[in-house]
Amino acid sequence: MRVVVDGAAAQDAHGFLAKLRESAPVCPASTARQAAAVLVTGYGDVRALVGDGRVRHDVRSKAEREAAAEHRALTPREELMYRAIGISMLYRDPPDHTRLRGLVNRAFTPRAVERLRPRLSAVADELLDAFAPDRPVDLVAEFAVPLTTFAICELLGIPQGDRAVFWGWAQAINDADAGDGYYEALAEAVEYLSALIEGKRADPGADLLSELIAVSDEDGDRLSPDELVATSLLLLIAGHDTSVHLIANAVLCLMGAPDQLAALRADLSLVDNVVEEVLRYESPVNILPARFAGSAIELAEGTIPEGETVLLSVLSANRDASVFPDPDRFDITRSGAGHLSFGHGIYYCPGAPLARLEGRLAVTALVTRFPHLRLAVAPDALRWRDSTLMHGLESLPVRTTR
Ligand code: HEM
Repeated sequence: MRVVVDGAAAQDAHGFLAKLRESAPVCPASTARQAAAVLVTGYGDVRALVGDGRVRHDVRSKAEREAAAEHRALTPREELMYRAIGISMLYRDPPDHTRLRGLVNRAFTPRAVERLRPRLSAVADELLDAFAPDRPVDLVAEFAVPLTTFAICELLGIPQGDRAVFWGWAQAINDADAGDGYYEALAEAVEYLSALIEGKRADPGADLLSELIAVSDEDGDRLSPDELVATSLLLLIAGHDTSVHLIANAVLCLMGAPDQLAALRADLSLVDNVVEEVLRYESPVNILPARFAGSAIELAEGTIPEGETVLLSVLSANRDASVFPDPDRFDITRSGAGHLSFGHGIYYCPGAPLARLEGRLAVTALVTRFPHLRLAVAPDALRWRDSTLMHGLESLPVRTTR
């Protein structure tokens, strides 16, 4: 039986995934973007496959082979998709992945992230100052989105006046529906970033994009113009949507666990644990971007045939009782070790230090500023985004006063 991973599955993600872990941890599945795939939900298999070199990320090569078998070329939309994001490191295998990631690591350093801290903290304060005391505030739209937009745009060097469009692009690119809006967002983003990069090539600033343009390795290798566009779009999208939902999911978790919130208020140094447990318990990423089996892969539950699209749910793996005792309990005293929310192996998220900084700073600011913070609607009125990639709320209305 092929399970359909659709909007209803997103609304009850944990119930849907728990059933699969129990009865079919390696299961034929379809999504709005993948007509036929295998969905893997158990921790052991997900972790092993994330780090398994037989699982390939270069989806363009697979699409080209399939198009050739049908005696056709890639369609203009496919070409756009591969140009916009498909040549970024996330969709490449070694040695291309190694080369791109190495170049990005030279520019995207922990120091660059740490430099953001004071400005990020000031922006968090400004946003919280603007919260209306007498009406519900949407923490997604009025706090998490502007804060994380600021972080990634400051880092990359996106001019202030241009930033309003990015949240719309992130949603169009990451939501389940890959219709016209998806391709329009990709085309607009490519056009915008190409022009921005050319401008910075002529007139560099003190920012990550300018450094990515200039960076070269020992052999003098550099990012090509297309690679620069795809890399900056990957950083913008991967580094934005995810962090929005880390912050909103953190507030949701704390609102549902008053004892844990009280413990945090009593000892703010627990915020690091809080963020790790939120990452485990309500991972902002559900199913990792699709990859495929480069050769047949034998698992205890069956064989994934060569060429099959592989979908790995880290949201599910993080709730696997064989690794996390009492996994459906939000418990900030756990060690935090072992969750797969930032991936694992050579594709491990390079933005994890920035994501943790954003999460810790946002949670600390919210709980210290608003002792009466509470949900403004019943928890079951909250809607999850229709996305297989993201596990995030459409909005999170809260009240800040009694
Ligand atoms: C809570 C926030 C975040 C979460 C949960 C998250 C999660 C992930 C995961 C699971 C992967 C692995 C994808 C895979 O194996 O298919 C990944 C990769 C990546 N992330 Fe993040 N991420 C977050 C924030 C960020 C930020 C802030 C940035 C950049 C500023 C970023 C940039 C990237 C990039 C460039 C990759 C691709 C790495 C590669 O291909 O080697 N992420 N992220």
